[in-house]
Amino acid sequence: MTDAEELLSLAEDIAREAGVLARRRREEGVRIAATKSALADIVTDADREVEELIRARLAAARPDDGFLGEESGAERGMSEVTWVVDPIDGTVNYAYGTPHYAVSIAAVTGEPSPEAWTAVAGIVYTPVIDEAFTAARGEGAWLRTQGGGPQRLAVSSPTDAGALLATGFGYDPATHEGDLDRVRRVLPFARDIRRAGAASLDLAYVAAGRLDGYFERGLHPWDHAAGALLVTEAGGVVSGQPEGRPGRQMTIAASADLAARLAEAIYR
Ligand code: IPD
Repeated sequence: MTDAEELLSLAEDIAREAGVLARRRREEGVRIAATKSALADIVTDADREVEELIRARLAAARPDDGFLGEESGAERGMSEVTWVVDPIDGTVNYAYGTPHYAVSIAAVTGEPSPEAWTAVAGIVYTPVIDEAFTAARGEGAWLRTQGGGPQRLAVSSPTDAGALLATGFGYDPATHEGDLDRVRRVLPFARDIRRAGAASLDLAYVAAGRLDGYFERGLHPWDHAAGALLVTEAGGVVSGQPEGRPGRQMTIAASADLAARLAEAIYR
């Protein structure tokens, strides 16, 4: 039996250490190491170094577990647990010196594919703001800040002023027309739209009630693995296209009522 709290505690220690490293490297100056799917899709030296640190710490603590990371790929494990890691989510913010970036670490069990896995523990940690959004399956979602006690998270419901929504546009220009169409379709019931640049934090903010809802096409497993658990543990729902699991086709996160409304507008 996997102890979700134990996995979360390990993930939190490692995310905090990784966050300190990311922040230090940012202060020293960021170097773009390569571009990936498009010129706008970048990886910095720090992304790679931070992922190496996380992978090494996990391998030392739990050598039998699998790993799926944004920068270094997948390795199947011998245990039932796989770690799904985005070392720096919000890399473009990071490269531009905007503090809205996060270390995202999730522990999942079962087949290591977002279609099939069960997320059991997750943390989204912002090193600059020093906020840790955490969840262990069945134990709720929590925000831990420096000096304050843990606060239980709960998704919000929109007021008569409309839903505060977030989205993202991904890196592939070929998909942007569709992205803009979806924005057009949800705007009638939105009070406003945010595009903050880190999917894991968009999900964490839905869990925290800082956003009413979030939708985005094109997410990778490491973008949503930890954040999706935060949302469900905070009483919300996370779905894909048009139902089922979140994934490349679509991710929608909100309270059940708003998620249904978003899905209706998005797939109309
Ligand atoms: C990206 C961010 C962004 C989202 C992209 C992701 P990265 O992750 O989460 O908000 O729109 O789809 O790929 O590249 O910063 O790790």
